[in-house]
Amino acid sequence: MAAILAGFPDAVLNLTYLVAGVMFIQGLRDMTHPRTATRGNTISSGGMLLAVLVTVLWFDILSPVILGAGLLVGGLVGAGLAVSVETTEMPQLVGLFNGFGGGASALVAGAELIDVLGSGGSLSIGLTASASIAGIIGAVTFWGSLVAAGKLHGLVGDGPFSTNVGHALKAVFLAAAVAAGAFLVVRPDVFGTAPLASWVPSYWALVGAASLLGIFLVISIGGADMPVVIALLNSYSGLAAATTGFVLNNTVLIIAGTLVGASGLILTVIMCESMNRSLTNVLFGGFGSDGDGGEDMEDIYEGQIQETSAEEVEMLLDTAQRVVVVPGYGMAVAQAQHAVAELVELLDENDVDVEFGIHPVAGRMPGHMNALLAEADVPYDKMRELEEVNPTFSQTDVVIVTGANDVVNPKANEDDSSPIAGMPVLEVADARQVIVNKRSLSPGFSGIPNPLFAKDNTSMLFGDAKASMQELVNNYKENH
Ligand code: TAP
Repeated sequence: MAAILAGFPDAVLNLTYLVAGVMFIQGLRDMTHPRTATRGNTISSGGMLLAVLVTVLWFDILSPVILGAGLLVGGLVGAGLAVSVETTEMPQLVGLFNGFGGGASALVAGAELIDVLGSGGSLSIGLTASASIAGIIGAVTFWGSLVAAGKLHGLVGDGPFSTNVGHALKAVFLAAAVAAGAFLVVRPDVFGTAPLASWVPSYWALVGAASLLGIFLVISIGGADMPVVIALLNSYSGLAAATTGFVLNNTVLIIAGTLVGASGLILTVIMCESMNRSLTNVLFGGFGSDGDGGEDMEDIYEGQIQETSAEEVEMLLDTAQRVVVVPGYGMAVAQAQHAVAELVELLDENDVDVEFGIHPVAGRMPGHMNALLAEADVPYDKMRELEEVNPTFSQTDVVIVTGANDVVNPKANEDDSSPIAGMPVLEVADARQVIVNKRSLSPGFSGIPNPLFAKDNTSMLFGDAKASMQELVNNYKENH
C-alpha cells in the first residue's frame, strides 16, 4: 500500500510533531485550573489524535479504513466509560488507563525487537537497552495498575506481603528483571542466532519478573493509599511510553511520555505533601495503623458533643453575614453536591457572603471536590483554596463542614504524635460557629478521632449529607 503522505519532506512530519508537542503542553497548562481544564483536555487529546494520525499514515502502518475503525471503536469505548463511570470511581478508571499505557509500551518494545530481527537487522545496544527499560516499567505499570484499580473497586484485598519476606521477594523479582535486561543488552545472541531465539527468552523473562514485581509492589500497599499509587503509576506509564519512543525513534512519543511522567510525579509529590507523608511511607508503611483510635475516641467525645438540627442551623444562617462550606469525601459518597450548591445559591441571593473552603486532598482523588462542585454549576470564584480561606475563618460567622473529617482535624496542628501531624488543615474552629454534618462520630480516612467535634463552638448535624443539606435548603426556602 502506498503511503498516503509519501512525497512530503520529513520536515512536515517533524513540524506536525512539534505542533502536537505544543498542544500537549498548552493542554497541561490549561488543566491546572478548573475554569480552563475542559479546554485543556480537548487541546491535548487533539494533539494526540494529530500525532497518531500522522504517524500511522506517514509510516504506512495501517490502511485509513482500519485506522478509522480503530478510532471509532476506541472512541466509543472511551465515551461509554466517561459517561457511565461515577466520579467516585474515576481513580480506578485512571488506573486502568495507566495500566493499558504501560502494557502497550511493553508490547510495542517487544514487537520492535521482532520487527528489527525479522527484517534482517541487528539488535543495537541502544535498542536492547531502551526496550529492556520500557519492558520493565511497562510490565510493572500494567500489573501494578490492575491490582490498584482492583483494590479501589473492592475486587482485590490487601496482600500479606508488607513483611520482610514480601520485601525480599520484590528485591528478587527486581534483580531477575534487571539481570534479564542486562543479558539482552550484553549478549542478545546468547540463546542462538535465529531471529526469535536470540531475544525471546531474555525479553519474556524480563517481562515476567517485572509483572510479578508490579503485583507484589502494589498488593502490599493499603487500599486507602491507592490514589497516590495511581498517580505514581501514571508517572511510570509516561516513562514507559517515553522509553518506547527511544525504541521506535519517535520524537512525539518521547515528548508525550516525558510530559506524562513529569506531571504524574509532580501530582504524586503534591498529594504526599498535602497529606504530610513521604513517598517511602506510602509505598512501604501504613497510614492510621498506629492505633490512635478506640479508647482515645471515648475520652475526647464523652459528654462533649452538642447535637443540632436543620431548623437550628437554618436559624443560625438567618443572622450570618459570612458562611464558608467545607465539603469532604462524604459529600461525594452522598452525592450531596447539588443540594449544597442550592444552599449556597440561596445564601448568595440573600446577600450572605458565602464561599467554599477546598482542601487539596479532600475526597479521594486530586480535584475531587472541585469536579463535583463544578458538576453542580458552582461558580469557580466561590471556591477558595486552603491558604486563601484559612485567614478568613476568624471573620466567618458559620462554617458548614459536610462529609469532611481529616481535612478539618485540629490534631494535625496540635498533636505531634498524630499520624496526620503536620498535614495542612482547614482551621474551621477559628469561626464563630462550626456545624459538622456527617452520619456518626466515625473517623475518616486516617482512622483517628477528631477533637473538632467536641469543641464548644461546634455542633453536630448528624445525617446523610444529601438528606441533611436538602432539609436545610427546604427550611431556608420556607423562611425566605
Ligand atoms: P475523610 O477524612 O475520609 O472523612 C469523610 C467523612 O465522611 C467520614 O468521617 C464519614 O463519617 C463521612 N461520610 C461518609 N459518608 C457520608 C454520607 N453519606 N453523608 C455524610 N457524611 C458521610 O474525608 P476528607 O475530610 O475529605 O479527607 C480526605 C482524606 O482522604 C484525607 O485523610 C486524605 O489524606 C485522604 N486521601 C485523599 C486523597 C486525595 S487525592 N483526595 C488521596 C488519598 C487519600 P460518617 O461515617 O460518620 O458519616
